[in-house]
This record gives sequence, structure tokens and C-alpha cells, in this order.
Amino acid sequence: MSGDNSLPCHVAIIMDGNGRWAKQRGLPRFEGHRAGAKNVRRVVKAFADCGVKYLTLFAFSTENWGRPQEEVTGLLHLLSQSIDEETQHFHQDNIKLMHIGKPDRLPLELRRKVEAAIALTKDNSRMTLCLAFDYGSRAEIVNAVRRIKEDDVSTGDIDEVVFSSYLGTQGIPDPDLLIRTGGEMRLSNFLLWQAAYSELYFTPVLWPDFGKKEIDKALLDYRQRQRRFGSL
Ligand code: IPE
Ligand code: IPE
Ligand code: MG
Repeated sequence: MSGDNSLPCHVAIIMDGNGRWAKQRGLPRFEGHRAGAKNVRRVVKAFADCGVKYLTLFAFSTENWGRPQEEVTGLLHLLSQSIDEETQHFHQDNIKLMHIGKPDRLPLELRRKVEAAIALTKDNSRMTLCLAFDYGSRAEIVNAVRRIKEDDVSTGDIDEVVFSSYLGTQGIPDPDLLIRTGGEMRLSNFLLWQAAYSELYFTPVLWPDFGKKEIDKALLDYRQRQRRFGSL
């Protein structure tokens, strides 16, 4: 941890507001998700151009399975399509892909696509793009506890560093800046452990409208924060 906050090393975003974006236009919710998926490319490019090293995007939560079947199917379809359309671009831009969340509930074909995209881009070094899909922080924490137990780690050896190494975000620094679009001011089960000292930025701008200008505003706001990590 350092006091230098000219630029966040890791930005995490709760991409919220697609449904309302569509509603405002009298369109079905799916059109909002489609516009939201399209926005991912320009946001990834903008953060990579700024020099941010890690970008984590919350695309689908463990709770989002509770939405109507039609919407869930649409979101799975969009993820699949985005991987098809974007992986080569990300690869050309030297961006490494990773996934956090449960892989096993995704359709097999989609899981294979995700794995292939991760394998293709594994040696890229400009920025790591971490996609949180079927991700829930509580499930991630419970899963870490289970695996620690399975590995027979002795009680005295369990500390924060060891515990972190059992989370999906293992090896990547905690987010410096956590952005939520769409106006809600809550974490909705996103990175509860990792965001312990993240700077939080909430904007009413809906995700499909969150572009370069909004990113610059968020980064400017971040630069003005004073991070103390409990010290003086
Ligand atoms: C975020 O947009 C995308 C997902 C949660 C999958 P929403 O679909 O939650 O949009 P709103 O909040 O209804 O506007
Ligand atoms: C959070 O948004 C999850 C994602 C953006 C993927 P939700 O729309 O699901 O959150 P709530 O229901 O408003 O808390
Ligand atoms: Mg929402």
C-alpha cells in the first residue's frame, strides 16, 4: 500500500443501470444489456490507455440467477457473443483476461470459451481484465474457507495473506478505486474482502453512458482523496 494515489493500479466497476437505460428509451431490458456490453470495449480501452494495470468488471452476480429466465439467458448469450467479438481485440491490445466467480454453473460451451480466451491471453502484460461473472463475494469467501480446510492448513498459519491467496482474486492487488454506475450506493456482494480500503465512487450515470468523460471525472475525484489506511 502506498500513499501515492495519482493513478489507481486496480479499478473495479459495478456496471449497473442497463435496465433503466433501456426503460428510459422505451426499449426492452435486453437492449440495455446489449448497449452495456458494447460499452465494455471503450471503457477497457480508456483505462488501459491511462495506464491502469488491473480492471475488474462485475457483469453477473450470484444473485442475478434469480432474474427472469429470459433475461438470464440473454445475459449468458451476450457474454458468449462478447467473448467471440472482443477476445482478439483484447489480445492485440496486450490485455490479459481472467475470470472470477463460479465457473461450473455456466453452460459448458461458454465455459470452454472463457477458458480458451484466458489461455490465449495469459502472457499479455499491458493490463489484466478480470471479469466477475457468476461472482458473489460471500460465495468466494465460503469457498476459500472450504479449500483452506481441505488443504489442512493449520490454524496458526491462517493469516490475511494466506486467506487472500484462496480467493479468486489471488495474486492481484486490492482495488484502489471501486466505481458503481447507476446511482445505487451499495456493494451488492462485490469484493467485500478486497474492498476493505478501496476508495468508493458512486455515479448516477447509467452504465451504457459511462464513457471517457465520466472516467476522467472518476480518476480526478480519486486523485483528490486522502488515503490513510488507518494511519494519520
Ligand atoms: C446491470 O444492469 C447488469 C446486471 C446486473 C447483469 P441492471 O440490469 O441491474 O440494470 P438496472 O439496475 O435494472 O437498471
Ligand atoms: C449488481 O447489480 C450486479 C452487477 C452489476 C453485475 P444489481 O442490479 O444486481 O444489484 P442490486 O440488485 O441493485 O443490489
Ligand atoms: Mg441493477
